[in-house]
Amino acid sequence: MRAVAKAQPNIAIIKYWGKRDSNRNLPAVGSLSITLSELFTEMDVEIDEALKDDLLIVNGQDGDGMLARVSSCLDNIAGHDRPAARVISKSNFPIAAGLASSASAFAALVVAADAAFGQALNRERQASLAGRSSGSAARSLLGGFVELENHADDIVVKTLLNAEEWPLKVVLAITAPGPKAVSSGDAMEISRKTSPFYDRWVEQQAADLTEARAAVTNRDLSKLASVAEHNCLKMHSVMWGSRPPMIYWNSATIACMQSIRDLQSQGLGVFFTIDAGPQVKAICTAEHEQTVRETLTATAGVVEVMVSGLGAGAKLVTA
Ligand code: DP6
Repeated sequence: MRAVAKAQPNIAIIKYWGKRDSNRNLPAVGSLSITLSELFTEMDVEIDEALKDDLLIVNGQDGDGMLARVSSCLDNIAGHDRPAARVISKSNFPIAAGLASSASAFAALVVAADAAFGQALNRERQASLAGRSSGSAARSLLGGFVELENHADDIVVKTLLNAEEWPLKVVLAITAPGPKAVSSGDAMEISRKTSPFYDRWVEQQAADLTEARAAVTNRDLSKLASVAEHNCLKMHSVMWGSRPPMIYWNSATIACMQSIRDLQSQGLGVFFTIDAGPQVKAICTAEHEQTVRETLTATAGVVEVMVSGLGAGAKLVTA
């Protein structure tokens, strides 16, 4: 009747941007990500027959803004005639700011709700249901390097490498901690409907995935860096070409990219990626983590730097 689960956000190296079916939230493209170890969301789901409606608390505050999405996720797991639940969510990092908080939140929610409602779903089904609430959440069900495959009628994820098989580090430079103005879900629909670059983006994704998959399998950081930065900048070009344009960056975002370019020219194994927000994620070898961290901390406009390794998929903490 009550269960708590924990999940880490994931950072996409090859991005999910665009939906083939917005009702079922099916991604238009495959994607490839790394699951983090240090950032997390914990979800506590308790079935309460005395409650008339679901109740959501996010980091100690009323979570009404997210309640509809949470309730529909619970409906997908336990059916529309289920009893109401009290859901308490806690994250140890800024939420809704382009740090993939919806990924860790829905991954943890599905695992906790599955246990609380006694559904005994397998991992594949959990990933598929998490993805229906937030596409990127499907990837947080698994650890390490994860591919979300491009299927026409379901959300399917698989592990390419476990975290310990290629223990890269992620340095997250926070340049503005507040919530973003346009959610990624809304922004990708605007891109699909208005960006002249959207079709080309979708068309080219399979080639980027093939290149990135090979780089991961061979643990080739410079090949991964090249395709990952290309894919990230291409996604942002799709957004910049949309009407209205979506520009998530600020001047510190660009300063961080420049800092990372400088480190690359000195031969360091590091590359950047940026999601639907102004934060910059630098992915690097463990050997260069300290230099990357110090460089980004000293970059103008950076307000906070967090470091994470790669971690495992969502798991039940108590049932
Ligand atoms: C830029 O998974 O948040 O982070 O399915 O609408 O919830 P919805 O979108 P969401 O989009 C993530 C977009 C991204 C790229 C990525 O994580 O692949």
